[in-house]
Amino acid sequence: MTKSVLVLPGDGIGPEIIAEATRVLDSVNTRFDLGIETSEALVGGAAIDAEGSPLPADTLARAKAADAVLLGAVGGPKWDSLEMAQRPEKGLLGLRSNLNLFANLRPALLYPQLASASTLKPEVVSGLDILIVRELTGGIYFGEPRGVHTREDGVREGFNTYRYSEPEIERIARVAFDAAMKRNRKLCSVDKANVLEVTVLWREVVERVARDYPEVELSHMYVDNAAMQLVRAPKQFDVMVTGNMFGDILSDCAAMLTGSIGMLPSASMNDSGQGMYEPIHGSAPDISGQGKANPLATILSVAMMLQYSLQSPEAAEAIRSAVGRVLDQGLRTADIAGPNDTPVTTRAMGDAVLNALKV
Ligand code: IPM
Ligand code: MG
Repeated sequence: MTKSVLVLPGDGIGPEIIAEATRVLDSVNTRFDLGIETSEALVGGAAIDAEGSPLPADTLARAKAADAVLLGAVGGPKWDSLEMAQRPEKGLLGLRSNLNLFANLRPALLYPQLASASTLKPEVVSGLDILIVRELTGGIYFGEPRGVHTREDGVREGFNTYRYSEPEIERIARVAFDAAMKRNRKLCSVDKANVLEVTVLWREVVERVARDYPEVELSHMYVDNAAMQLVRAPKQFDVMVTGNMFGDILSDCAAMLTGSIGMLPSASMNDSGQGMYEPIHGSAPDISGQGKANPLATILSVAMMLQYSLQSPEAAEAIRSAVGRVLDQGLRTADIAGPNDTPVTTRAMGDAVLNALKV
């Protein structure tokens, strides 16, 4: 049976990292005879330029019909002055909400070869293996009402709404508990229940779901403390579950523990196993078009895609071990290069992974 993957390169470094990731996908597709068919579409700034919308109807329809979506990155200074509803980021957020991709899995795994690339001491981060489960289609990112208006007293005011319903909390909690059961059975739920009612409800619902998972050790942490603990003693965490905005912030923080945000893949899933896969980093306009970007986060996102949406765990493992071998060989893009390394280009890194796959 053929499986379809929609590839959305997007903006900035997106096309460069996607080019390497699709070469890797093509290679495992042939080697493992996976029957994957890929096609490409526009999203973000590229779609605004070509079609006047960050998420053209054709792109959305094809994303819905695909078994999985592979996305590079969206956004850039060129589109920063557009009004919110027209910005490239709306393409990404629209895909997340229209495909109902509520469960965002962001593993922060430190490759031992990169222990010294982190800004933290190697002993603090070595062996690090955290999974952040971020709710992705609710919370303050999507809450209504929202906007900027002029009050009766003539003062302009901006506002967003932080909302979560019980079912929304429950389903992400279940994803997190299920993930914890497959790992070290420790789950930390991150909230701000000392200030925000919505997260008082969050905590209550997570406690309730916990009764179905007696083997998982559940703890709760306020988000400010969680940010501090992530840089103080990150290895205390196994799985973390949190809302959309806190998860956005904490996952960037966790990414740096692994040496570079250029290393972290992500999966965004819905109830039917359909998923969108993307590096957690952005479009990095400052280095785009220069061959400096690290394609490994996107290549590792392909591995997650093969594992979670395309039922090809062997191919996923082949990619992960190829990445490990490339790091063993000492190849480093600029973001993970040490003082004595000569950084390699995006393409050279992609070539090295392809070669390592043949071994
Ligand atoms: C992420 C990004 C996005 C987010 C942006 C690009 C809209 O930061 O995936 O973490 O805020 O979710
Ligand atoms: Mg982010």
